[in-house]
Amino acid sequence: MALNQFQIVYFEATRRCNLRCTSCMTGSNDPRRVRRRVRSELSLEAIRDRILLPARRLGVHTVGWSGGEFLLRKDAMDLLRLGVELGLECSVLSNGKALTRKRLERIRDVTGGRAKIIVGVNALDDSNRLSRDADSDRSIQVLEDCAELGLGRHVVVTIAKFNTESFQRTIDYVVRNNIPYNRSPLVARGSGSRCFGELGFDREDLQRHFHPALRRHPHGYVSYTPFFLSPELHEQASGGVRNNTVPENPAIGCWAGSWLAVNAEGEVSVCPVLLDELSGGNVRDRPLDELVATSTLFADITDRSRLKGRCGRCRYQYTCGGCRAMAYYHSGDYMGEDPTCFFDPVDRSTVSEHEEETNRTFKKYLLVARAAGVYRPPGKQPSARATPGQAERP
Ligand SMILES: C[S@@+](CC[C@H](N)C(=O)[O-])C[C@H]1O[C@@H](n2cnc3c(N)ncnc32)[C@H](O)[C@@H]1O
Ligand code: SF4
Ligand code: SF4
Repeated sequence: MALNQFQIVYFEATRRCNLRCTSCMTGSNDPRRVRRRVRSELSLEAIRDRILLPARRLGVHTVGWSGGEFLLRKDAMDLLRLGVELGLECSVLSNGKALTRKRLERIRDVTGGRAKIIVGVNALDDSNRLSRDADSDRSIQVLEDCAELGLGRHVVVTIAKFNTESFQRTIDYVVRNNIPYNRSPLVARGSGSRCFGELGFDREDLQRHFHPALRRHPHGYVSYTPFFLSPELHEQASGGVRNNTVPENPAIGCWAGSWLAVNAEGEVSVCPVLLDELSGGNVRDRPLDELVATSTLFADITDRSRLKGRCGRCRYQYTCGGCRAMAYYHSGDYMGEDPTCFFDPVDRSTVSEHEEETNRTFKKYLLVARAAGVYRPPGKQPSARATPGQAERP
């Protein structure tokens, strides 16, 4: 595959929000910050010309409409319709508060039923309020409504010290209901910077609490680290498809280098949790595809041969890549080792005790990814798109 092929654009279309989550990475819980920036939001025309059309040229198939709360934009439905007209799949990331049944039906109608709803659930019990400024009941109701309306669904669980104990129960719920999910590591972006030192997870939390749940089922295989997938197996399954050195078809491990993130003012980065911190330029100056082709940040991040420390001598250097955000927020070096990883490879011959389980579960994930249209076995035609409810993209 040619250089600079990206799968997804995650776009924070506004910083405004109807909740005040204390560690919000977009700072949407801080009214003064939001007021200061709201005039710099991109117009629908700028979004079309500087993000969506260039994204199509980069091979992007899906836009994740996020915020703040995307649905607070007056033109939210027009943007969804525009995305569909341009041939892009739409995901809507929402806290669920504005997602009434009527609003969900409207989203279904403007997208021809092809939208996916992504809600954040950090815990199923009262502790959800500690980080999400809402009970999880609302998000659960939204997930149930989506199932009835035939809309795709997905859950994001932000992982931190606040949910080490409850994480397994949350994953049991999503797996029981056959809902794909991904974990978002708590970072020091925006309001997260006030609590990262106290609440950010460490390698022991990852090893004891999060990783055992993450590796057990294919539902969260879309992206997490450390990801102990055999490079030989991925090479064989993907037919060697990669974006520079970042393995794709399907994308796995760290997604930096497989997706693009844009903040409300048009700054571009390599992952949503790195927005406002690491910039590859602003789409107001140059369209997205030109920024990606010329920025040092993207040249670095798509070249995993440049990773340092343990990530640079690891058998999983390419199939995992280590969370670039953890490297950056702990050391300031986005190409450094991921300090939350609990694997200590001597060199490339060190095999993780979890590789066998990861390989086995990855093979199951391939079936789901194929049905969702994000994986094509070598030599095979793309399968018919799955029903939106089955889609597995974050
Ligand atoms: C910024 S929110 C925007 C979408 C929507 N308003 C919501 O609440 O889901 C997107 C995701 O980022 C996660 N998030 C918020 N602050 C974070 C932080 N400091 N570190 C990592 N993830 C964070 C949220 O939990 C949520 O799942
Ligand atoms: S840097 Fe990579 S692993 Fe970390 S949150 Fe972003 S995509 Fe995921
Ligand atoms: S050392 Fe880095 S590349 Fe290897 S498993 Fe750990 S995080 Fe992944």
